[in-house]
Amino acid sequence: MSSHIHTSHETVASGFTETASDYEDAVRFNIEGAQRLVLAIPPGRYEDVLDVGCGTGWATQAVIDRFHPRRITGVDPAEGMLEQFQAKLGGIEGVEVTLARADVEHMPVPEASFDLVVCSMAYHWFPRKWAAARAMARALRPGGVIAILMSGRGGEQAYRDVIANIEPVNYRWLGAFDGNLRSIPEMEDYLVQAGLEPVDIWTETRVRHTSVEAYMERMRVVAGHMIGDQSAADVAEYVARIEAELRRRSGPRGWRYEFVKLYAVARRPA
Ligand SMILES: C[S@@+](CC[C@H](N)C(=O)[O-])C[C@H]1O[C@@H](n2cnc3c(N)ncnc32)[C@H](O)[C@@H]1O
Repeated sequence: MSSHIHTSHETVASGFTETASDYEDAVRFNIEGAQRLVLAIPPGRYEDVLDVGCGTGWATQAVIDRFHPRRITGVDPAEGMLEQFQAKLGGIEGVEVTLARADVEHMPVPEASFDLVVCSMAYHWFPRKWAAARAMARALRPGGVIAILMSGRGGEQAYRDVIANIEPVNYRWLGAFDGNLRSIPEMEDYLVQAGLEPVDIWTETRVRHTSVEAYMERMRVVAGHMIGDQSAADVAEYVARIEAELRRRSGPRGWRYEFVKLYAVARRPA
């Protein structure tokens, strides 16, 4: 694996490395999202595929199942995620897998060489959204397709309300929601500014009921790094207060929350 890591992404990457082995159990909604994203890609031959923020490989798995590509390149700054990817998908016959430890803006990949770029549930972590779109667009060959799934604006409001009322207020985590979540017009702008032609952009809003334990576990896995650098005891106390508040606000069917997923499919002009 080559190593091209940008220091500003190390917190996110080390957070995902720490939780990599728990990731698969906690995020089944991400898996189904990746499958729906891949189903929305126009039919065609996609021989060379780039998976950005590839994690443990759910989007790649869906691409392999539907399109049987010859070569897959997975890029992610989290070493732990790449290890899981390699263990899961490294040995599939007929598919050449290359992995690179890198962030989206510093991908060690050739320009204009991929038929398909997928990016599933990672774009919301990219700190420079226009630059990320440009970097992914550069990797596409003319006529190639990009498919992105990310968290959309409006989701997780119930959780934001909880953490906004737990003191000391974690402004970093609270702000991350506004910094990360995006709308359809914003996504359209990233794609168009990157020289791409949007084909289809849509959101889905889902109301979910889950146990407080399952919700806390999901938050630990995907956003544990947002808690900050306090001592273990302070983290434990903070997390316990969140959990108590979630329980207080839960109804007979558990914790209710809305989640918005934003999907986009675009093409590089031929
Ligand atoms: C929620 S996981 C999604 C993983 C996978 N695509 C999936 O669908 O299961 C988000 C991934 O984005 C990666 N990531 C975070 N910041 C990144 C960046 N700046 N560039 C590339 N990947 C990044 C994380 O390391 C993590 O593996």
